[in-house]
Amino acid sequence: NFTPNSFVEDIVEELRVRLGNDKVVLGLSGGVDSTVAAVLLNRAIGSNLYCIFVNNGLLRKDEFQNVLHQYKDMGLNVKGVDASDRFLSQLAGIDDPETKRKTIGRVFIEVFDDEAHQITDVKWLAQGTIYPDVIESVSVKGPSATIKSHHNVGGLPDFMKLQVVEPLRMLFKDEVRRVGATLGIDPELLGRHPFPGPGLSIRILGDITPEKVRILQEVDHIFIQGLKDHGLYDKVWQAGAILLPVNSVGVMGDERTYEKVVALRAVESTDGMTADWVHLPYDFLMKISNEIINKVKGVNRVVYDISSKPPATIEWE
Ligand code: XMP
Repeated sequence: NFTPNSFVEDIVEELRVRLGNDKVVLGLSGGVDSTVAAVLLNRAIGSNLYCIFVNNGLLRKDEFQNVLHQYKDMGLNVKGVDASDRFLSQLAGIDDPETKRKTIGRVFIEVFDDEAHQITDVKWLAQGTIYPDVIESVSVKGPSATIKSHHNVGGLPDFMKLQVVEPLRMLFKDEVRRVGATLGIDPELLGRHPFPGPGLSIRILGDITPEKVRILQEVDHIFIQGLKDHGLYDKVWQAGAILLPVNSVGVMGDERTYEKVVALRAVESTDGMTADWVHLPYDFLMKISNEIINKVKGVNRVVYDISSKPPATIEWE
């Protein structure tokens, strides 16, 4: 029977003994797992834990600044690295989904390696790996797995030669959340929907431009904030918006418009392996659709995805 309190006591002690005065580097993603891992390590070794939070330019609207603030408020020794331009310039012109993923994985490794090199004498790489990641080690999902899938590409970056410490590797997701609650982590952060490592890049179908990222961030923000304001956020397992690579005709006043179409997606699931689309209230969808079309320049049509997984996937790419 899992008790978060004694888990925390035991693991913090174990980490103290194991890590001593060594320096540890950890990549924060804004997600639950890396955050809980960081807070545990921070309890054990304090500022010898060096956290790196990379902005790949494909996060949700204002997410980088907001989450970085939260991390600092938690007392973490964290460095925010805004590498948006580097990611977006490397992604320019790429429309194939797997090439997008590989590019983001590669640039992330380059950025992280540069940063890790600036910490003198670092001995350990900490990761927020949880038990399902351990058993599905063949999966290509998640930041740690993204790194693994690059093991064979032209030699290991130096940070991957570090000893690895994974304080959550025996825990399931709900246990990680309970540990997070025991540690006093903001319930809003612990209740966040999953968000893919490649971020909005795989929700912009076709090639990625800064303007498309801006449009999608605005749309996504209206949708997610709407779910929160209407008490629907916690009833949904994952939600987001997709920017489609088509224009549609519309009218605005007396003018004919020819602008972008966005799709909204909200699913119920337990593990992401299967998923059902959520029957969001029509009134809510109407309100959100109006708000998006009125506020987001460049969008004149909103559709709702009513496909379940399988055969559709949660993401469109
Ligand atoms: P699909 O689209 O395969 O998504 O039904 C299932 C879950 O995995 C997430 N996902 C990813 N997460 N890197 C990630 O870290 C990826 O490349 C990736 N692709 C999909 C998706 O958001 C959903 O939660």
